[in-house]
Amino acid sequence: MEKTFAIIKPDAFERHRVGAILARIEAEGFEIVALRQLRLSEREAEGFYAVHRERPFFRDLVRFMCSGPCVAMILSGPGAIARWRELMGATDPAKAAPGTIRGEHGTDIERNATHGSDAP
Ligand code: CMP
Repeated sequence: MEKTFAIIKPDAFERHRVGAILARIEAEGFEIVALRQLRLSEREAEGFYAVHRERPFFRDLVRFMCSGPCVAMILSGPGAIARWRELMGATDPAKAAPGTIRGEHGTDIERNATHGSDAP
């Protein structure tokens, strides 16, 4: 079964949306293979988002990701990588379709509730 890596970000944590997002993940048929609450260090966030290092939003993104707890998960299911990204919706919650997690729980393009890997 395909596996993907997902994060519930600090904005969703602060707004008490963790339970709603986990309930949605289960309702959509994903298996939660692993789940851990953690707080990223600056170094970990920089490493995780290294691909965005040259982008103008990089410093703010790192600061935001370290600003509070996250929930990191491994989800599995058929086509889990694409299905999780579809369920999250567009990066910018303002452009995310109604009913998607970012559409319902995101605030703005940075504080967008969840992350999903784009590759195994
Ligand atoms: P994510 O899917 O975790 O991948 C990179 C993250 O960078 C993205 O979600 C947003 O949180 C953030 N991001 C992407 N584009 C922008 C942008 N234009 N301005 C601010 N943050 C952004």
